[in-house]
Amino acid sequence: MIEKDIERRFVFAADLAREAGRCAVRYFRDRSLAVTMKGQNDPVTAADLETDQLIARRIAGQFPEDRILSEESGGNPADRLWIVDPIDGTLNFARGISRFAVSIAFFWNGTVVLGAIYDPIADEMFTARRGGGAFLNGSPIRASAISEPKSALVEAGYSLKRPLADYHALVGRLLEAGYNVRQVGSAALGLAEVACGRIDGYCELHLASWDVAAGLVLVEEAGGRTSDFFTDTGLTDGNFLVAAAPALQAHLHEVAERER
Ligand code: IPD
Ligand code: CA
Repeated sequence: MIEKDIERRFVFAADLAREAGRCAVRYFRDRSLAVTMKGQNDPVTAADLETDQLIARRIAGQFPEDRILSEESGGNPADRLWIVDPIDGTLNFARGISRFAVSIAFFWNGTVVLGAIYDPIADEMFTARRGGGAFLNGSPIRASAISEPKSALVEAGYSLKRPLADYHALVGRLLEAGYNVRQVGSAALGLAEVACGRIDGYCELHLASWDVAAGLVLVEEAGGRTSDFFTDTGLTDGNFLVAAAPALQAHLHEVAERER
């Protein structure tokens, strides 16, 4: 794959995230939305499915040789792979809380080479391209310069895939180490906020690749650091994740990982 192919996909990903976000918002404004539960506190709405199908159609139309791995329709690893979360923050979305986003990334040669996260309510488009920087609505962004846990605000996402006791223990360790901790229901937006320095770190005991793929390249291109999410079977099975401001990541990782 040459530079021109990646550039084409980068422009396409941002346009598609915006179009998909607008599709999701139409459903969000219509509160008659049909919600089905995939599991306890794990809803899927007609908007997730419709947005997912829109994204799949557009990718197939523009890049028929590429493959897709998506939260709603699954998929398999491939050489050229789009990693898609049509609506990250579905629980918020389904409850009428305006914190959700479309996340689209392209994975090639063992790494995420570009990502777009679009928050359609705030009209904020986060984009990053490997080696090309990270941006919010076209302006460059940087992770924060915070180095002290006592000055840091981090998010500890709650994963339904892990026992509640592990989450309690994680939050307990973070608070004892001095971090201020929050949990607001979208890993993609949490990572985007690490990338632009609104928060200083994000950690979660288990996430899927569609939750984090775009966010990882954003944080790294904004000067932040991330744990090695795609090691072993991270792409297909998910993984533990810590992403943070550069001077904080090692400490946050150590605290989050202890007794994991
Ligand atoms: C969830 C959100 C949440 C995170 C969960 C994810 P979904 O994705 O990103 O913040 O804590 O682990 O599953 O279900 O809203 O697309
Ligand atoms: Ca998700």
